[in-house]
Amino acid sequence: MNQASLHSLHTSKHPTTKDSDLNALFELRFATNLTMIKDLFFSLYPEENNSASFEKLLKTLPALFKSRPNSLKTQDIDRICEGDWYKSAQLTGMQLYVDHFSDDLTGLEKKIAYFEKLGVNFLHLMPITPRPKDENDGGYAVNNYHEIDPRYGTKDDFLKLTHKLRDKNILLMVDFVANHTSNEFSWAKKAKEGNVKYQSYYYTFEDRQLPNAFEQTLPEIFPMTSPGNFTYDQEMEKWVMTVFNRYQWDLNYSNPEVFIEMLGNLLRLVNLGVDVVRLDALAFMWKKLGTQSQNLPEAHALISLFRLCLQAIAPGVVFLAEAIVAPNEIIKYFGLGTMKGNECEIAYNATLMALLWDAIATQKTTLLYKNLYNLPKKPLEATWINYIRCHDDIGLGFEDRYIDEIGWDVKQHRKFLLDYYAGNIEWSPSKGEIFMYNPKNGDGRITGSSASLLGLEKALELKNKIKIKEAISKIIMMHGIIFSYGGIPLIYAGDEIGTVNDYSYLSDLNKKEDSRWINRPKQDWNVVAKLDAEISHHSEIFFALQGLIRVRKKNPVLADNNNLVLYNSQNPHVLIYERTSEKEEGILIVCNFNQSPQTIRKIELGAYSEKNKSKNIVIGKSMKFDLETIELKPYELLWLKKA
Ligand code: GLC
Repeated sequence: MNQASLHSLHTSKHPTTKDSDLNALFELRFATNLTMIKDLFFSLYPEENNSASFEKLLKTLPALFKSRPNSLKTQDIDRICEGDWYKSAQLTGMQLYVDHFSDDLTGLEKKIAYFEKLGVNFLHLMPITPRPKDENDGGYAVNNYHEIDPRYGTKDDFLKLTHKLRDKNILLMVDFVANHTSNEFSWAKKAKEGNVKYQSYYYTFEDRQLPNAFEQTLPEIFPMTSPGNFTYDQEMEKWVMTVFNRYQWDLNYSNPEVFIEMLGNLLRLVNLGVDVVRLDALAFMWKKLGTQSQNLPEAHALISLFRLCLQAIAPGVVFLAEAIVAPNEIIKYFGLGTMKGNECEIAYNATLMALLWDAIATQKTTLLYKNLYNLPKKPLEATWINYIRCHDDIGLGFEDRYIDEIGWDVKQHRKFLLDYYAGNIEWSPSKGEIFMYNPKNGDGRITGSSASLLGLEKALELKNKIKIKEAISKIIMMHGIIFSYGGIPLIYAGDEIGTVNDYSYLSDLNKKEDSRWINRPKQDWNVVAKLDAEISHHSEIFFALQGLIRVRKKNPVLADNNNLVLYNSQNPHVLIYERTSEKEEGILIVCNFNQSPQTIRKIELGAYSEKNKSKNIVIGKSMKFDLETIELKPYELLWLKKA
């Protein structure tokens, strides 16, 4: 039982929402988490030197609770009582850049009807906080954690929006860029002026001795555009750790003051009406000489510390781990041992995402199955964000040993995937780019919009109707998987209408080095305006996705209760899994990853073909199984329910 479940045990006994009750419940949560908070705190900051900081933290928590608006405090209580609300099959998400989608926050409010039409009720807004004027990594260089960048509007606009979203039952996720600030953040400015206190908020060094030692083991995140992990700041006359870009200064969490201040920043942000916090780059939050400084046990302790403190103050807010790391590392962000279920409630299912792209390129599900069978189990309280792609590049973060074990050459296979998606292979339907190719080791990642990577852009250029149909089927099938897999599906804005790559970034000086901008297109409202009136590839994709979302919402079995069973298909091009439940009918998902029709034996569908009939709820049609085999069309998606 995790701490959140403990809180729900005592909360249900206090149904009123009077001030005094809310305070009493806070005290109770605080007391319940206190020993864990203390142990975590002193594990990171040894008691001998840090008891004063601990006392400061203990004084800070009630003050932070006091600052939380009452409407959110009562919502917190509702959520505690409801428990695991983020696992519901009712949720479907969309990720977007406000400026690319609706210009600003007021514009976004006007688009609520569009979300409702599609069935989206969970939004991930990319950073809207102030950032440096020139390069700013799409806002991931933060000048302030709880103000709004004027390009998007004002704080009032944001508050108006969050109220409206709450009225409409739409959840909001924003980033908390916890690992680094921009070089224009108030602390960085003071550090540059020579303020020693604020220099200690970052990793600053007089000379290259320690940076050199760190760099023995630190990998490079952006080797082409931002090589190395340290930047010399002329004004400060010191080196500062900058693991991402030179203008993103890594925060020094080995200083407890940084943790306490960042907790305050986090609360000020969620108090604006945020439901889910995307903890950006959280794997990097603790640095240790002689290590890669990623996924360290101390980083996990730190995140749990944030979790347990925030849980006392704002228990209705949950964390998404942005840990795009190896499968056995991702799972650890749900918490291990005594911290199981006490770290992040949600994580990106980056493993599934990358493997789906592998299956598309190879037209085989072999590596996908191999990995899925070997994935560690997540805690019951935890869930995934299932996505095809996000605003970032697609990393091929699955393990080499499984590629090897199925008899494929690891290097060749990885090279093939990059070539396939960059369109370097003549027959490849894909039009993407290779991101951060490292000639030293052949590593690279992929950028491109879903539609372009899945062949739509090229097919449209060639005016090839068969290829267009094929690409549409692939787009629908890939979404059909993330909608049914268990977790919150997250659509990247524009993918629902088959938006292709945006090449305009090449003419922007501040973006042209970063090909991730190719997959962050502007929303095409002219296309949207014609969806109902004209049949096109856009409308075909939109209405197919809308239909799938509707079906998803009607079937609570698709909520995530660790109720997914893989079926071992004999056909290497096919993926089959069941979403099971003791209470209701299950759903069997069947997908053909091949461009040719594929045959499977009806017994592979288990009980779903036993009575010789089932219903494909994707299109609401009955299926008959009179023959021993069934044929799947190219890239066909079935969601079967026993009829
Ligand atoms: C995360 C973001 C990415 C950003 C990086 C640094 O990985 O998704 O866009 O570049 O963090 O903040």
